[in-house]
Amino acid sequence: MKAKLWFLSILFILVLALVGCSGGGDDSGSEDTSGEEGTSENSEGESSDEVVTLTWARGQDSTQASEKLIEEFNKKNPNIQVELREMPSDTGQQHDAYVTQLNAESSEIDVMDMDVIWPAEFAQAGYVLELDRFIQRDGIDMDKYNQGAVSAANFNGKQWAMPKFIDTGMLFYRTDIVSEDEVPQTWDELIESAQAKKGEGGTEFGYLMQAKQYEGLVCNVVEFIHAYGGQILDDSGEVAVDSPETVKGISKLVEIANSDFVPGNINTFTEVESHTAFIEGQSPYIRNWPYQWNLANDENESEIVGNVGVAPLPAGDEGSAAALGGWMAGINKYSEHKEEAWEFVKFMTGPEGQKISAIYGGLAPTLPELFEDEEILEANPFFKEEGFQKALEGAVSRPVAPNYPEVSEIIQINVSKAIAGELTPEEAAATMEEELNNVMQ
Ligand code: GLC
Repeated sequence: MKAKLWFLSILFILVLALVGCSGGGDDSGSEDTSGEEGTSENSEGESSDEVVTLTWARGQDSTQASEKLIEEFNKKNPNIQVELREMPSDTGQQHDAYVTQLNAESSEIDVMDMDVIWPAEFAQAGYVLELDRFIQRDGIDMDKYNQGAVSAANFNGKQWAMPKFIDTGMLFYRTDIVSEDEVPQTWDELIESAQAKKGEGGTEFGYLMQAKQYEGLVCNVVEFIHAYGGQILDDSGEVAVDSPETVKGISKLVEIANSDFVPGNINTFTEVESHTAFIEGQSPYIRNWPYQWNLANDENESEIVGNVGVAPLPAGDEGSAAALGGWMAGINKYSEHKEEAWEFVKFMTGPEGQKISAIYGGLAPTLPELFEDEEILEANPFFKEEGFQKALEGAVSRPVAPNYPEVSEIIQINVSKAIAGELTPEEAAATMEEELNNVMQ
């Protein structure tokens, strides 16, 4: 009997010890977003020849950049091997896939690329690891980064992701169809030119854009709204979308999306459908992000190599406006390899990784010093042009909010209804105003 009691007490102590151990690094159930948990629960104690496999998730990549990044990193870090997990290219679908995994506290993904519109939400939900401890420890100078990109990943005074590349809406055109002095300066000129050029040089359409009901539509409409002097939020963060200027911007977008020079199913077009049509030679013009240049000049992918020009987006009454986009790299708070994950994030978002992304992916660096790099400029000559630099400087942010998905959905739905003719632009602006006021915190 005594022996049995003795055995049970030992067992009890062992169980307690085990529970204590696993509980130590497991803050998964808490709402804590301070990121105070250990950073290397699983890397500690691993012998140096043990190879850690990291899963890096990002949207489908039409370029060589991700492959090259992994190749270079894996070569330099034989003890850490990165594997790519391709996610949907539609940022909203990608977002939802992460949210499902992270809500389930899954450790499957270690590093993920994050759209500029996510950090506030992901930080507040406690999905991503706060990175300041690594940044300080490794002496990363955040002042060297584009400050807009840095602040997009800063929430409650902490850094939740590292800026990887910056996006800004641009007009790409076919230099064999449109001469430099014909490049449209205003949206009305674009309409006229797209109509006239449609059919030239084997094209089927005059203009391509992103008009599906998804995040890219928000970017497109933000550009029209601001070009005509409207805004979604005012400087103090109040909803200010219901204005004659916004109505003008929405009307212009609706006019273009319903014209006979865009594909009849333009309301199903995301970046992928539009860039595919462009590189297949179907249109003289496209609105897209900087990667379009690289892809359109890729011998293996494109039929229009060497015939691509870039210009700022056309102006409305108020001027030209481009949406600010871009991506960051963050670490899953539930990753079992946080230290190694940081090594990869540091590489990918540092000068070497950004150079690879710029050369092989046409992605614009968030480290301004790289705009002086000769190899990068050779691959992306427009990076040095004043028009591009100005577009970057003046790019318009989408509203910043931890509940951004709700904000975005309101804009997407109402603008889609306007395109479909179910709401007038006036009604769309008024409904957005009311609905945004209900969800803005
Ligand atoms: C690009 C931008 C991103 C934006 C998305 C919309 O990927 O970088 O910020 O949300 O396009 O489709």
